[in-house]
Amino acid sequence: MSIDTSTDNFFPQDTAGRVVPIKISGKPLDDAQTMMGILRTVAEFQAAAMRCVVVHGGGKQVTDLLGPLKDTQHSRTKLRITPPSQVPAIVRLSTELQQRIADQCRQVGLEPQLMSASVIEATRLPGHGATGDVDGVRTYAIQEAITKGKVPIIPFGGLDHTGTWLNTNADTSAAAVAAELKAIKLFLLTNERGILVPNGNGQMKLLSYVDFKGLLALLRLLDKNNKFVVDDGMLPKLEAAALAVAQGVDAVHIIKADGLSLREEMVSDVGTGTIIERMQRHRIAVGAHASELPDIKRIRAECMTGDFTAKKGTTFLKPKTDAELTTLLDRTLVFHHRDRLIGTMYFEPVDTHPATVSFGGFAVSHRNQGAQHGRQLCETCLETLGDNGFLTAISITASPVVKNLYKSLGGISDTEGKFGDILSAAAKRYQAEERGDVELFVFNLHQPVSVEDA
Ligand SMILES: CC(C)(COP(=O)(O)OP(=O)(O)OC[C@H]1O[C@@H](n2cnc3c(N)ncnc32)[C@H](O)[C@@H]1OP(=O)(O)O)[C@@H](O)C(=O)NCCC(=O)NCCS
Repeated sequence: MSIDTSTDNFFPQDTAGRVVPIKISGKPLDDAQTMMGILRTVAEFQAAAMRCVVVHGGGKQVTDLLGPLKDTQHSRTKLRITPPSQVPAIVRLSTELQQRIADQCRQVGLEPQLMSASVIEATRLPGHGATGDVDGVRTYAIQEAITKGKVPIIPFGGLDHTGTWLNTNADTSAAAVAAELKAIKLFLLTNERGILVPNGNGQMKLLSYVDFKGLLALLRLLDKNNKFVVDDGMLPKLEAAALAVAQGVDAVHIIKADGLSLREEMVSDVGTGTIIERMQRHRIAVGAHASELPDIKRIRAECMTGDFTAKKGTTFLKPKTDAELTTLLDRTLVFHHRDRLIGTMYFEPVDTHPATVSFGGFAVSHRNQGAQHGRQLCETCLETLGDNGFLTAISITASPVVKNLYKSLGGISDTEGKFGDILSAAAKRYQAEERGDVELFVFNLHQPVSVEDA
């Protein structure tokens, strides 16, 4: 199969020549179609001069062999205990999986190079049978394969100093490989979309972005039932991600194990799963620069389409002229995510009510929506207004999404009509049938804003 090298234009320039380890486990090990989709994307990366390294886990077959994790866990560490008597069977399985992946690589035009378990230096974990921990990586053979343009295939497991095979976690191996080879990115492919955390209502939501400190906080995060949010399945991935970013890997991506997600994650700055980076790369500034006006207008234009209108078509966002937006620049908040402006809102003091401020113009770029950016922008806006001496903030909306958000941030719908004059003036731009949906929310800035746990 020929590889379309024209795709390299899509990938970030700084990835050329850099090592990109991809840890594959779960469904692709059982499902050839999913594996082939992933490897086709790997072939695109490779054609765009990235140096891919595949690290694979044991998947369902190891579970079938050893039993479910919960039945074979060490009571204190919760790590799997590997009975030494099972080692020959696991090693056989590991070799079979590795060979199968190598065959699949060839089918998409990749040149695989099978790595021996000896590339992973392991130490036995006392009390865990033949389970080991990853101590280091012997990089020579991996580097050599990479130099020849081959894709090293590293199996799970490693050898201790006596040459004994130990069952080590493939996420940890992948993190160690990424750190040793100064990878630009590490991909951990899973059966989930990424890291899921509960929102205020207890629903599990994808966490699209977390920095190193946030990652550590996540490991301690408890849900409403006082159970750790990060479960046994996700824990090794988060630990591996922490190890990798702490040792200099720029970003770890925890994503769904399929070729499209892998590709999209590399191409787009939004991604499909969870990105873990050492340093926070988003920033909310209060006060926008005139040079940011075109981006503010672009985002607002995206948010004034049919998706964001009341039932008769009036846009939730109030139209503003360029001159009006320019006047508001000092009082505009701008959200930069990965060096792009992705969200905006503004505030204006309410002259008729003392210490009161109104905020609005709330918009997040279409493809960044639903990833908690709006919530962060709104929280920052409320905090800023409180810090600036305002006691009350108000905001008018007909958008069900915004109403949900405002309620979760402590906003109370002004049913008593304290701000009735302001609400009826604002409702005039809506059609008669839509006006019943227009609500004014009041925020008491004395009280701390309800900040979600994650
Ligand atoms: C309103 C807007 C800024 C929200 O930004 P966002 O980044 O997508 O929102 P978030 O991901 O931070 O979600 C925050 C909260 O909004 C609510 N929300 C978001 N998407 C929702 C949906 N599809 N349905 C219902 N509520 C939703 C939820 O309460 C959510 O909190 P949760 O995820 O903890 O449940 C964005 O949707 C937007 O730009 N819309 C178009 C413009 C617009 O309508 N502006 C409002 C003018 S009044």
